[in-house]
Amino acid sequence: MKNLEIFDHIKDRSLMAVLVVDRVEEAVNTANALIKGGVSVVELTLRTPIAIEAIQAVIDNCPGMLVGAGTVLKPEQVERVKKAGAHFALSPGVNANVLIESNNFELPFIPGIATPSELQTAIDLGCTCLKLFPAEPLGGMPYLKSLSEPYKHLNIKYIPLGGININNFSSYLSCPEVISIGGSWLTPETLIKEQSWKKITTIAEESIRIIGKKSNC
Ligand code: 3PG
Repeated sequence: MKNLEIFDHIKDRSLMAVLVVDRVEEAVNTANALIKGGVSVVELTLRTPIAIEAIQAVIDNCPGMLVGAGTVLKPEQVERVKKAGAHFALSPGVNANVLIESNNFELPFIPGIATPSELQTAIDLGCTCLKLFPAEPLGGMPYLKSLSEPYKHLNIKYIPLGGININNFSSYLSCPEVISIGGSWLTPETLIKEQSWKKITTIAEESIRIIGKKSNC
């Protein structure tokens, strides 16, 4: 899928769950629980040794899930996540070599930015969809509103992540530049370790319900 196509798919689905897993089965079971609850985009982070295997397993076993490889920090990781089947990739920051490599492998990439300078670096490198990270500690929606203002004419899209939860995510929904909101509130580590898949489905359902309510206003 090309960049714009993938960003449209992410936009249609609104919420992105951030997933950190120690076991491949945890990734598959969590992804299936999320899909049941209506959340079908996941950032599966490369923070554990089995992460790439887990990406492949989710792609193979959870049809309908849009899978982004998260925490992609090195150029050599791009080919590996692409081969595992990742639909897109993200990073907490901007790294030119990673972005060039993702371009070479035609892997849509969403780099993280926190300042105007980082934002401009990402734009210079051809990015049009950016992860605002860490969104809440930076100042949340008021910060994003000020940060994005000078670049409105460039039609940049944002995905705020970091410190977002079920109680504060709706503050971002009214911003047309925000195509998705994400975080680990959808995938609490304790519930994954307890294998409480039903509870993960319930959190996803409740989050989707809040989005529905807001967009019906
Ligand atoms: C990420 O990689 O986007 C963050 O770890 C998500 O932040 P959160 O855990 O505060 O939701």
